[in-house]
Amino acid sequence: MKRLVLVVVGKQGAGKGTQCAVLSEKHAIPHVSTGDILRAAVKAGSDLGRQVKAVMDAGELVSDELIMSLVAERLREPDATNGALLDGATRTLGQAEALDAMLGEGGISAVLNIDAPTDKVVARLSSRRVCQECGTIYTDSDPAAISGTCEKCGGDVIQRADDTPDAIATRLNAYTRDTAPLLDFYERRGLLVTVNGDQPVDAVTAEIEAALSARGLL
Ligand code: AP5
Repeated sequence: MKRLVLVVVGKQGAGKGTQCAVLSEKHAIPHVSTGDILRAAVKAGSDLGRQVKAVMDAGELVSDELIMSLVAERLREPDATNGALLDGATRTLGQAEALDAMLGEGGISAVLNIDAPTDKVVARLSSRRVCQECGTIYTDSDPAAISGTCEKCGGDVIQRADDTPDAIATRLNAYTRDTAPLLDFYERRGLLVTVNGDQPVDAVTAEIEAALSARGLL
C-alpha cells in the first residue's frame, strides 16, 4: 500500500476519533490525535500539560506553533514511515500552511471531512465517556460507562472536562471560525473527501473506505 497521510477534519463529535481508531486498527496506520497527545500531557502533569490544561478545559484552541511542533515530533517516529491518520490537526489555516511546509508537495494524500449536523454532535458529546487510560470511547448508556471501568484495560471511564455545555459551545464556535474555512482551502486543491457522519459507525467507515479506494489510496 502507498504511504497514506490522511488529515481528518470535522466538527467536534463528528466521529474523527472513532473512525481513526477503526481505520488505524484495520489498516495498520498510526492514529495521531493531537487531542490525545495533549490530554496525556495534562494527565502526566508535564510542563506541556500545565501549559495547555486551562485552554483545553475551556474548549479554546492551543497555539498553532505548539500543535505543529507536536505533530512534527510524532511524524518523526518510526511507525509513521508508512503514513498517519492526523486526527484533529490541522484545524486552522496557519496549521494547514505549516503542515504543507512540513510535508512538501504531495505530502497529504487526502483530507477526510466527516460531516454531521450540529444538534447530533452536541448530543453525542454530552453523552460521551472515555477511558482515562487507553482512550476507548463509550456512551453514557454503555455498561463500562455506568460501572466506570473500561472493558479493555480496567481504567477509569470518565466524562471529558471539555464535554460540558459551555466548553462544547466554545469548541463549536472555534470550528466555525477557524476550521470550517479549511474545507474550501483543501477543496480547491482537490484533496477534500466528504463523508456523511450522520449514520451508524460501520456505515461511516464503509463510506470512508470506498471513497479512499476510489482514489487509489487504500
Ligand atoms: P480533540 O481531542 O481533537 O477534540 P475535538 O476536536 O473536540 O473532537 P472530539 O474528540 O470531541 O470529537 P470526535 O470527532 O473525535 O468525536 P468522537 O469520535 O470522539 O481536541 C481537544 C482539545 O485539544 C481542543 O479543544 C483544543 O483545545 C486542543 N487541540 C487539539 N488539536 C488541536 C489543534 N489542531 N489546534 C489547536 N488546539 C487543538 O465521537 C464523539 C461521540 O460520538 C462518542 O461518544 C462516539 O461514540 C459517538 N459517535 C461517533 N461516531 C458516531 C456515529 N456514527 N453515530 C453515533 N455516535 C457516534
